[in-house]
Amino acid sequence: FGSSATFFAKELQIEKTASPKPHPEYESLVFGRTFSDHMLEVDWTAAGGWGAPRIVPYHNLSISPASSSLHYALQCFEGLKAYVDDQNQIRLFRPEKNMERMISSCARLSLPTFDGKELLESLKKLLVLEKSWIPKARGYSLYIRPTCISTDTTLGVGSPQAAKLFIILSPVGPYYKEGFNPVRLFADDKNVRACVGGTGGYKIGGNYGGTIMPQKQAASKGFAQVLWLYGDRQYVSEVGTMNFFVLWKNEKGERELVTAPLDDGTILPGVVRDSILALARKEHADEMKVSERLFTIADLTKAIDEGRVEECFGAGTAAIVSPVKGIHFAGKDYIVPIDEKLNAGKFTSLLANKIMDIQYGRKPSPWSVVVQE
Ligand code: COI
Repeated sequence: FGSSATFFAKELQIEKTASPKPHPEYESLVFGRTFSDHMLEVDWTAAGGWGAPRIVPYHNLSISPASSSLHYALQCFEGLKAYVDDQNQIRLFRPEKNMERMISSCARLSLPTFDGKELLESLKKLLVLEKSWIPKARGYSLYIRPTCISTDTTLGVGSPQAAKLFIILSPVGPYYKEGFNPVRLFADDKNVRACVGGTGGYKIGGNYGGTIMPQKQAASKGFAQVLWLYGDRQYVSEVGTMNFFVLWKNEKGERELVTAPLDDGTILPGVVRDSILALARKEHADEMKVSERLFTIADLTKAIDEGRVEECFGAGTAAIVSPVKGIHFAGKDYIVPIDEKLNAGKFTSLLANKIMDIQYGRKPSPWSVVVQE
């Protein structure tokens, strides 16, 4: 951090809404369609640095149609959730990881960086004000969407001279209402989500827009999500908008939990990804080896054919874990085992429960941060 331009100019200012909205029936929530009464906003200019952060009524933005965010995808975002525990306290799950990642996404796009602790403190104040919007049941939460956009009014392709950081809040229900819904994946050997030297390791809108058409094509063939591959050797990278894990007996006969590594910059450093790796290394080291390494779709399909794959799942903030029951690749269907009673693999289901126990404050953990009111 260092430069004063990375700090907000003044104390947080709060303007409350005069017309609070009615709260929805939480059972009927559709992901990302309902928003709370207030939002956080803070503006930046190259000349003046950050202004004062403001909590204001939720409103439409007014920006120039020439804003370079609208033309050159100068936009990055985060996704995290707030929970209410059994003692009626607000909790966040490893929020400093989202702040760190957003700073790195901003830096990658030449958007201004900021002080992560300061933004987190402002977010906490917003959450205290919006507490009634956090649904109380397990599986329900308030999805938090911090976003930074260029507001520079120029069609020139260049470093933004003006930007806006905002946070909006959306109450969300459990990803799978009737329990897990294991999905079939389409391993796409034509479209690539991210390549070495690209921006796959950052949470920027530009990484997501291009995935929608291939996802739609996969859906039209009856597959819920795309399994993304890249490179001449067709390395397995991510699934849909999530990180991807396999629990298998590898070629050496070792029981191994494996996910693609972060070091070539193609993989999003997911908070749930990191949490699963840490939990597996700490609590399951005697049952499995835990690896972040490259593996190919040929390795995966061969292992499925040979009966060596125990479980496959996606991991992300929205669904926590998403079980996989099949993979379609090069004209062939590969069946991934599922525990019929759990509707997921045993380890997949165990992980979901362990992580939720921490998020909802049922199991003490330094990862769960209580927001003081
Ligand atoms: C996640 O799986 O947590 C996401 O990144 C979803 C989000 C893009 C809606």
